[in-house]
Amino acid sequence: MYLFYTVLIIATSGALGRNLGSDGSANEKPEPSENFTYHEVLDDNYELFWNFNDTHIIFETIVKTNGYVGFGISPNGGMAGSDIVIGWVKDQQAYFKDRYASGNTVPGVDASQDWFLLNAAETGDYTVLKMVRKLDTCDGQDRAILKGTTRVIYSYSTDDPVSDAVIPYHGSSNRGTKSLLLLDPPNSEKSVETKWENVITIDFLSKNYSVPGNSTTYHDYIFKLPDLGQKHHVIRFEPVVQKGHELLVHHILLYSCSRPLDDSLVGASFETHSKPAGVNDICEDTMLAWAIGGTAYDFPPHVGQSLGTPQDPVYFRLETHYNNPDMRTDFVDSSGLRLYLTTDLRKYDAQVVEVGVSPEPNHIIPPLESSFLTQGATVSPVVLTRHSKIKRSMYLLCSCMRICWGSNSEPAISETALSCQPCPRTTIMTLTFNRPEMSVQKSPSRREIA
Ligand SMILES: *[C@@H]1O[C@H](CO)[C@@H](O)[C@H](O)[C@H]1NC(C)=O
Ligand SMILES: *[C@@H]1O[C@H](CO)[C@@H](O)[C@H](O)[C@H]1NC(C)=O
Ligand SMILES: *[C@@H]1O[C@H](CO)[C@@H](O)[C@H](O)[C@H]1NC(C)=O
Ligand SMILES: *[C@@H]1O[C@H](CO)[C@@H](O)[C@H](O)[C@H]1NC(C)=O
Repeated sequence: MYLFYTVLIIATSGALGRNLGSDGSANEKPEPSENFTYHEVLDDNYELFWNFNDTHIIFETIVKTNGYVGFGISPNGGMAGSDIVIGWVKDQQAYFKDRYASGNTVPGVDASQDWFLLNAAETGDYTVLKMVRKLDTCDGQDRAILKGTTRVIYSYSTDDPVSDAVIPYHGSSNRGTKSLLLLDPPNSEKSVETKWENVITIDFLSKNYSVPGNSTTYHDYIFKLPDLGQKHHVIRFEPVVQKGHELLVHHILLYSCSRPLDDSLVGASFETHSKPAGVNDICEDTMLAWAIGGTAYDFPPHVGQSLGTPQDPVYFRLETHYNNPDMRTDFVDSSGLRLYLTTDLRKYDAQVVEVGVSPEPNHIIPPLESSFLTQGATVSPVVLTRHSKIKRSMYLLCSCMRICWGSNSEPAISETALSCQPCPRTTIMTLTFNRPEMSVQKSPSRREIA
């Protein structure tokens, strides 16, 4: 432990000298200092890179500011209860402290410093901080970084603090929160490089759509699948988000149409809430869904979505939700989804089932419960399973679907150790929401958790 600490201190002072020297001319955004596997654009001025192993996580923030940079792990997206670091570079000197926020005020310095600065640099308009910590520091003023969704918070200011205690307010715009899967991103960006045999890609993209200056817009395009000639399996899909539109494109859904459309509608472009008559109510079968923060999705290795047979859909509706809070009128967007298809068919066809109950004010996950069950009844014959993790139950769902929608006599899948009964007419579906972090919460107020 001592050794680790010492090495980091040396790295800190060594790295600082090399990277400093802002002369005002180097206004290019700095490159990340290593090939980080994971990357998120938190806002137009704030990029986050990270890598992790079984015990540690390394973050690098590249932020367009000459003031301070804040980064933290929050219980709920707010400041209260957050584990925060704040760092800056001033007169060639790096300042960096592990802190804890008890409320919406300047976070105090932790008694135990468990985030370690690896590098700090100010070049041109940018400030870079590279830091490492243990996934679980065992400090009551830090938050363990666990699998599942982590709410990160970030801030930055144009000004350097006067001292550790006097940190200027970042303002209401230079801050934010994002939900990230830090330790189990759905797929690493790197896996795009995987080489497959017999794989083709098909893009469903918007076509230079001029996003209106409204804070929210839902826009659709109609597509017709080219003749594939034979059965294919969709084995992967990924977002294709136009560069610079990372915050604009909020979610994308691909719906299949339950029957053929008039070919004159192919290429049609319209607002989701005013669909033309020939499309309305026909193209509502969710096939694929992506939302901001998500990356590519690979189907389990024995599962793929069928396309190309006479029973499969040919017409599709791409729905994109644009989030444009500044009501800019200059966005022209061509984002969408890329599908990877193969003729090397897998054992099972995947189907989609939508679970849940209609949102209504009474359906909430109550605060301070370690576990909560929500139930909904399906009318179509679907076998549902009960499990503690939503992600897992979605996988199990996939496995069960084939059994139900294929032959009733097919045996249950033993690997999941579930009893997938043959298609009862009505099924109760159950999801359990678990709060794995509950045990380490330190007397949170009800408000914070809610
Ligand atoms: C990142 O990887 C590329 C290609 O593998 C390599 O050329 C480059 O030197 C690497 N950069 C760093 C900072 O390691
Ligand atoms: C995990 O990462 C930390 C920080 O980079 C490093 O000190 C440690 O040796 C790594 N552990 C393993 C098993 O590679
Ligand atoms: C979008 O506009 C650009 C620039 O005018 C053009 O090169 C591109 O082909 C257009 N894309 C589509 C899908 O129409
Ligand atoms: C955008 O907002 C204007 C004014 O509120 C409204 O008239 C228009 O229909 C909206 N356009 C879209 C595409 O939502």
